[in-house]
Amino acid sequence: MLTIAMPKGRIFEEAVELLRQADYQLPPEFTESRKLVIEVAEEQMRFILAKPMDVVTYVEHGVADLGIAGKDVLMEEERDVYELLDLQISRCHLAVAGLPGAKMNEIAPRVATKYPNVASTYFREQGEQVEIIRLNGSIELAPLIGLADRIVDIVSTGRTLKENGLVELERIAEVTSRLIVNPASYRLNGGAIERLVDRLAAVIPER
Ligand code: PRP
Repeated sequence: MLTIAMPKGRIFEEAVELLRQADYQLPPEFTESRKLVIEVAEEQMRFILAKPMDVVTYVEHGVADLGIAGKDVLMEEERDVYELLDLQISRCHLAVAGLPGAKMNEIAPRVATKYPNVASTYFREQGEQVEIIRLNGSIELAPLIGLADRIVDIVSTGRTLKENGLVELERIAEVTSRLIVNPASYRLNGGAIERLVDRLAAVIPER
């Protein structure tokens, strides 16, 4: 039996749809219940539902063989997991945003983000020294109330930025969801994992 860590939230529905397209028979309770462990005996699979940032932790520790994680999380976390497949779902990008026309504070520029590693690497590469302020969500709030000059966050439709009067200033990286695997589990269960990869890969080009 393979254990797969699934990210709760916006990626979840697309990931379930992709598995169903690959002909995995997932019961209705999958998208309806609040259970956090769902076993699908017929498919020899067990799913655990975790916060997106925690999926890599479950896979790294080997309690899940596989996981579905956004490239944003993989860039931020840099964990000991292999990336097997770009699932090409939940497409979005990481960007720098701020209030239109607002300059960076020259003495102590501040950047608010849920992605402190991605943000500090990016600004270092730009040769800009900034203070990173870590937030857990609603990042767009930070420039509105004067906590930061810039934010680094995910942009999907661009609606959150627009409705809060912010503009995208720089694009950092494209993001899609990836299938990740625990390296030891990959060595042990290579056959079963390769079959899963093949079935998913076969439905990706249709999308
Ligand atoms: C994400 C991201 C942006 C928003 C972007 O937040 O942090 O706030 O979605 O989407 P959009 O471009 O389609 O508006 P999420 O809803 O995941 O919640 P969070 O604020 O708790 O991070």
